[in-house]
Amino acid sequence: MKILVINGPNLNMLGIREPGIYGSQSYAALVAFVSDVCAHHGIEAEFFQSNHEGAIVDAIQAAYGVMDGIVINPAAYTHTSVAILDALKAVSIPAVEVHLSDVSAREPFRQVSYAGMACEATFAGHGFDGYRMAVEYLIEHHG
Ligand code: DQA
Repeated sequence: MKILVINGPNLNMLGIREPGIYGSQSYAALVAFVSDVCAHHGIEAEFFQSNHEGAIVDAIQAAYGVMDGIVINPAAYTHTSVAILDALKAVSIPAVEVHLSDVSAREPFRQVSYAGMACEATFAGHGFDGYRMAVEYLIEHHG
């Protein structure tokens, strides 16, 4: 099984960015954490981070026919991007949404998730561990 782990805007700033909300560990630490989870389960993972909506759409399209699952934290684009929603629907690859913070307990503008409408499950508010939950969901349901 091969999965693509997509992280959206400002997640490259993890560790620096609002550590009270997103924690003190870096994006590199997140990649290492998810890599370890995938290695533990004997599956392959690729990582993509971008601050650009179209680049994320391109990465989702490029996953067609290549990837068996997508773990996606679209970050701020969660709440705005119909383009990312449509890309996920276009490729029909099983996708799981992750948020480090508990978006349901935050500002009203974070209460809608467009990308989530094309995802089979959402894990929010578990920090890095949410990515482990998402990987294990994909293995359990599609591995
Ligand atoms: C986030 C939550 C979003 O609302 C926010 O814009 C982010 C990160 C999270 O992981 O908690 O950038 O997706």
